[in-house]
Amino acid sequence: MNILAIETSCDETAAALVTDTGDVLSNVVASQIADHAAFGGVVPEIASRRHTELIGGVVAEAMAEAGISKEDLHGVCVTQGPGLVGALLVGISFAKALAWGLNIPLCGINHLEGHLSAAKIDHEITYPHIGMVVSGGHTSLYRIDNPSSIIQIGQTLDDAAGEAFDKVAKLLDLGYPGGVIIEKISQGIDPHTIDLPRPMINDGSYDFSFSGLKTAVLNRVIAEEIFTDMDLRFSGLPQTRKPVPGKEALIPKIASAFQEAVVDVLTAKAIQAVKDHGADLLVVSGGVASNTALRMRLKTVTSEEGINLVIPERKYCTDNAAMIGIAGIRYFREGLIAPLDINARSRWPLTAETRGILS
Ligand code: KG4
Ligand code: ZN
Repeated sequence: MNILAIETSCDETAAALVTDTGDVLSNVVASQIADHAAFGGVVPEIASRRHTELIGGVVAEAMAEAGISKEDLHGVCVTQGPGLVGALLVGISFAKALAWGLNIPLCGINHLEGHLSAAKIDHEITYPHIGMVVSGGHTSLYRIDNPSSIIQIGQTLDDAAGEAFDKVAKLLDLGYPGGVIIEKISQGIDPHTIDLPRPMINDGSYDFSFSGLKTAVLNRVIAEEIFTDMDLRFSGLPQTRKPVPGKEALIPKIASAFQEAVVDVLTAKAIQAVKDHGADLLVVSGGVASNTALRMRLKTVTSEEGINLVIPERKYCTDNAAMIGIAGIRYFREGLIAPLDINARSRWPLTAETRGILS
């Protein structure tokens, strides 16, 4: 069975071809980073418009790369939510039209199940396991007893980890997208020269909070007088601020300390969840899971603790359509076919409400 998958939930226009045996035949991602960079973050209206311009070419490229023609398609999966409604609607409309025109089944996939399913690409996954999604919109822990039983056990109470990376990068005037830039400038910088909090690290819950950490960074930036513009706010920051001469060296130190604090919290909570739930496998995915410091720490700690670890390849951690196709295999097998009038779901927690997730 050849499945075409489409993902347009945020600022990546993506299409992939996967087989029902789990092979990824192609995985095309058109990034819109350049379109949003000047604004310091994703502008929903711009994202929707770019998706409409890009989607036809991206799907054609994914089909050509896989050597599959329209007649060889057996099903279409599309991200139905959560995400930006206008952006989601572009992928959903395209997928519906294809499914209707080719008379093949359609599946609406939850983006979070997609991130968790990325682990199945090139890895054998065992059950039960703990899954952690760390992205720009989510930071959540799940207990996964079998492919159709995903139970959320914790989540961020405020900002997602990726959102905190993006906001701190903006605050340090490092540009967009924040995660990649913070990782880059932190390389080789001692993370322990600046003291930052580890919110909720030992509170016994599986929940997270990153907004206080972001404020701690802001307070440090103000205290150190790194910028002359002291009226710092998270919105409307001047794009052209320059650090005060002599203060530049503090920026990578703060970035590195921030990254370390996030890595500490994410690792501690994930390991605690694995232990408490008697699992022996941890799966970590989402854009922040492409962060080298996080990947290395998780590798070290899980090997010390005798826990198996699966982190997808970087290209399958950040938003892509292959993960949506891999999640969709189960839906086609179990006959969880979507009607052609499905709508975008901006909020869609991965719980019992999610069709087909909980049996
Ligand atoms: O999963 P994703 O591509 O999109 C969402 O579903 O949100 O995640 C994007 C998020 C952004 O906040 C971005 O800053 C963060 O992932 N990110 C990173 C890295 N690469 C992307 N954060 C830290 N280090 C990275 N290398
Ligand atoms: Zn995502």
